Amino acid sequence: MKVERQPLSRLTTLGVGGECEVWTARNLEELLEATSAPYRILGGGSNLVVSDAGLEQRVIRLGGPYAAEDLERDPVLSSETLHITGWVGGGRPLPGLVRTAQKRGLSGLEGMVGIPAQVGGAVWMNAGTRYGEMFDSLYELEVVANGVARIYAPEELNYGYRSSGIPRNDIVTRVRLKLAPSTPAEVETRMVDSDTARKGQPKARTAGCAFKNPTVSGKKVSAGMLIDQAGLKGLRVGNAMIALEHGNFVVNLGGAKSEDIKELLRQVEARLEVALEWEYELWE
Ligand code: EPU
Repeated sequence: MKVERQPLSRLTTLGVGGECEVWTARNLEELLEATSAPYRILGGGSNLVVSDAGLEQRVIRLGGPYAAEDLERDPVLSSETLHITGWVGGGRPLPGLVRTAQKRGLSGLEGMVGIPAQVGGAVWMNAGTRYGEMFDSLYELEVVANGVARIYAPEELNYGYRSSGIPRNDIVTRVRLKLAPSTPAEVETRMVDSDTARKGQPKARTAGCAFKNPTVSGKKVSAGMLIDQAGLKGLRVGNAMIALEHGNFVVNLGGAKSEDIKELLRQVEARLEVALEWEYELWE
């Protein structure tokens, strides 16, 4: 197993975070060893604000077979309209998976285009866009909790918008997907539609949307729109700024501190009438 100390600013999309001990587990045995002391699980690092002082806990990543993908059709479980895949590791980067599915003409993951996550983290938070979310395409998943690996059907979990119901620190080690047979060209077209919806999002270093979209009078409302309407785009603390392109993104203008980001989000919350729930995770 690989164990190394490194700054998490290198492993997070926002580029913030001090030094940690990073353990890369490739199988259950390694994972059990890695989780024998206090730990946190790092996925794609795309939703994280990590303390500048680093962390005492181990940071665990999935690698090797836990980052591989097998999209072969399961001949027993599949039908003419349903393609059940082999296992896809929790450490597999989502963008690569979305691309192989497209090349094979398998439909279902188009809404996930451009999400800079790994499969395990994307499942854990039920990542998605208006064009779909992770649980739409899940056939089954393996979760390691308290040293035991167990397979679940999605229906056994209490999942919803941006949440899987899986307890923090339980680990999504691998999943099988249910996709629909299509053609590479058709899947590509839907990917372009989904990608177009993100065109207005910032290109700079961000961690995706900072807040979940709140429900107002029974309807989901864009947190970005609320922040924009409150005139908060461009609000800045240190080198952290509310993006000019979209109100729900924090951009790191260079060397932003985790304290800057937290303070910025607090200021946003204080200036809105609607209570917001954080989508970013704070590690400190
Ligand atoms: N809008 C504004 N100003 C803004 C931002 C948005 O007026 O600053 C307006 C837009 O013009 C649009 C509406 O609000 O009419 C909705 O905006 P958008 O399409 O960007 O959708 P969103 O609800 O703000 C959600 C997801 C994004 C995802 C997009 C596109 C959440 C929290 N956000 O944003 O996901 O990329 O839809 O599908 O659910 C993420 O979760 O990290 C994320 C970025």
